[in-house]
Amino acid sequence: MSVHVNKEVKKVTTHTLQKMKSVGEKISMITAYDYSFARLFDEAGIDVILVGDSASNVMAGHETTLPITLDQMIYHASSVIRGINRCFVVVDLPFGTYQANSKEALASAIRIMKETGAHAVKLEGGEEVLESVKRIVAAGIPVMGHLGLTPQSIYKFGTYTVRAREEAEANKLRNDAKLLEEAGCFGVVLEKIPAALAKEVSGSLVIPTIGIGAGMHCDGQVLVMHDLLGINTEFKPRFLRQYLNLYEQIIGAVKNYVHDVKAKDFPNDKEQY
Ligand code: KIV
Repeated sequence: MSVHVNKEVKKVTTHTLQKMKSVGEKISMITAYDYSFARLFDEAGIDVILVGDSASNVMAGHETTLPITLDQMIYHASSVIRGINRCFVVVDLPFGTYQANSKEALASAIRIMKETGAHAVKLEGGEEVLESVKRIVAAGIPVMGHLGLTPQSIYKFGTYTVRAREEAEANKLRNDAKLLEEAGCFGVVLEKIPAALAKEVSGSLVIPTIGIGAGMHCDGQVLVMHDLLGINTEFKPRFLRQYLNLYEQIIGAVKNYVHDVKAKDFPNDKEQY
């Protein structure tokens, strides 16, 4: 009989996530950027909400995640926190707020924790950010790592293609994952890497891995809400399972509204005072 830690807990914590890994229960994670969607996802039983810097793309319309600021992430995260009751909320440290040095990284993480009420931060990279991870963890702030395709480095990669296919990059990722675990991370996102490598890394770590385009053997999965709900139509990578087609449904609904207003059908006599 499978154990569902998910149903037993009032509030999800890093300990819950660790327990889920140890009993083989997969962790569900989704991005959210505002109060209303966070409320829906919490109600639906999601374990972790990520206030991703993908807000830069899906909320602000930028081409990359680079432009979003710490103040903007704090705005999104504090809105999400007001919508949740049970799930664990992780907030991305945006580009430029942790790479310079560990002191700056800690200051950025503290702002997120103090000004939003979130439960953890996430940052991209391995060995390069280790000192920052250690310093943030030492301050009592849970940290999630992020390896593989790290979108804040897109101009270094030059493409959003699958990472770590070559042995040298795969070896660096294996090593980085271990270093992040040793530095005190409570989990690691593995983005767009071969499933076999994600399986090996997930098996070698005590802490949970959360995959996006990293196959079925990760300890959990994360998707960007706009992709899962079909709000975007242009983005259709192989790893994406689209559960709704909100793009068509919203356009259909708003077209009907426009039609009814133009036809003087809305509001009718029952819809006025
Ligand atoms: O910003 C984000 O949405 C992310 C996920 C893709 C993992 O980092």
